[in-house]
Amino acid sequence: MKHFFIIASFAALFFGCKVDPKIVVANSPIQEVLPDGWPKPVYTFSNNPLSEAKFQLGRALFYDPILSIDSTVSCASCHQDFAAFANAGHQLSHGIKELNGNRNAPPLFNLNWHPYFMHDGGINHIEVQPLGPISNTVEMGENIGHVITKLQRSARYRNLFGSDEINSQNMLKAMAQFMGMLYSYNSKYDQVKKSGAQQSFTGSEFHGYQLFLTNCNGCHKEPLFSDFQFRSNGLKVNPALNDSGRAHITGLSTDKFKFKTPSLRNIALTAPYMHDGRFENLDSVLNYYTRAFENTQNLDAQLPAGGFQFSATDKKDIINFLKTLSDTALINNARFKDPKHF
Ligand code: HEC
Ligand code: HEC
Repeated sequence: MKHFFIIASFAALFFGCKVDPKIVVANSPIQEVLPDGWPKPVYTFSNNPLSEAKFQLGRALFYDPILSIDSTVSCASCHQDFAAFANAGHQLSHGIKELNGNRNAPPLFNLNWHPYFMHDGGINHIEVQPLGPISNTVEMGENIGHVITKLQRSARYRNLFGSDEINSQNMLKAMAQFMGMLYSYNSKYDQVKKSGAQQSFTGSEFHGYQLFLTNCNGCHKEPLFSDFQFRSNGLKVNPALNDSGRAHITGLSTDKFKFKTPSLRNIALTAPYMHDGRFENLDSVLNYYTRAFENTQNLDAQLPAGGFQFSATDKKDIINFLKTLSDTALINNARFKDPKHF
C-alpha cells in the first residue's frame, strides 16, 4: 500500500497534480477523504505523507499546554472537541494569564479546503497556522524556538517524534496532519443528500433548506457551506475592538469590515457567533439578518439593505435546517480527543 502511495504521487506529477484523495495508508485509519460532489481540497498531503505516528504526534501537541509560555493553555483550550473545535460560550478568545484576545475562536474542520486562515485570511498555509497562536502575546505567549527546546527535553516527545528530528518543520507538519484529519461530512444533511438516503428532512427542515438556498447559499455555499470569500454582512463596528477585518491585512478601504465567510457546518454547536462572538444564539443571528443592516460601507450586494423578509416560521425553519448540519461523528470521534498522558 505504501508503494501505491508513492506510485500515486508520481502519477500526480504526470497528471497535473491530480492527487487521488482516497489514498489509504496501510494498516491505518488515516486517509484523505473527498466526499462525493465536493471540490478538490486546497491542501493535500502530497508534501506531508500521512502516517498514524505523525497524526498522533500532532494530536498530542494540539492538546498539550507545553506550547504556551506558562504551560496553562493548549490549542484545545480555545478549540474544544465538543464545540466542533470552537470555543464554547466565549465571545473572545481567552489565553494565558486570563488575557482576552480580540476575536472569536472559529471551529476547526474541513480545513484542507480553506485557501487561507483566520477571520481576515492573515495566514495562508495550514502548516504555519500554529505559529500564530503560539507567538501571540495574549494567546500562548511563547516562541517557537523555546517550544522546540522544551520538546527536545521531553522523553515523551522524543518518543513521539521517533526517528524524526525534533524541529519546527516536523512539529508543524504533524499538527497539520491532526488538523487536516478533522473532516466533517456526516451530518443529517449529508445523509439526506446521499443517493438512496434512508433519512429525509422534516417539513420544517426542508422549507428552511429552500429558504437557505435562495438567501444564504450565495456566500455560505454548499457543500462546505462557505465560499471562503471576504465579505461584509453589515455588522456594526464594535468600538472596543474597532476590527476592520480583511482591511487589517490589505490596508484597502474596499476591504473594510469584510471577514472570511464562515462555514455553517456544525453551526448549532459553535455559539457565540460572528468574528467577535456578539450573538449568543441562532435566533439572534436570524433576527439580525431580518433587520436593516447597520454598517453599509462595503455591504455585500447579495444582502438587501433593509434585511431579509422572513416570517417567524421562516426563521424557525432555517434554524431547524441549520441544525441538520451538526456532525456528531466529528465531535464524538475518540481519535480526535485528548490523548491524556498526565
Ligand atoms: C487563546 C485562544 C486560542 C488558542 C490557544 C489557539 N487558538 Fe486557534 N484561533 C483562535 C482565534 C481567536 C482564532 C481566529 C483569529 C483571527 O481571526 O485573528 C483562531 C484561528 C485558528 C485557525 C484558523 C481557522 C479558520 O477557520 O481560519 C486555526 C487552524 C487554529 N486557530 C488552530 C490553532 C492551533 C493549532 C492552536 C495551537 C497551536 C491554536 N489554534 C491555539 C483562538 C485560539
Ligand atoms: C453576502 C454574504 C452572506 C450571505 C448572503 C449570508 N451570510 Fe451569513 N455570514 C457572512 C459573513 C461574511 C459572516 C461572518 C461575519 C463575521 O464574522 O463578522 C457570516 C456569518 C454568519 C453566521 C455566524 C457564523 C459563525 O461561525 O459565527 C451565521 C450563523 C450566518 N452567517 C447565517 C446566515 C444565514 C442563515 C444566511 C441566510 C439567511 C446568511 N448567513 C447569509 C456572509 C453572508
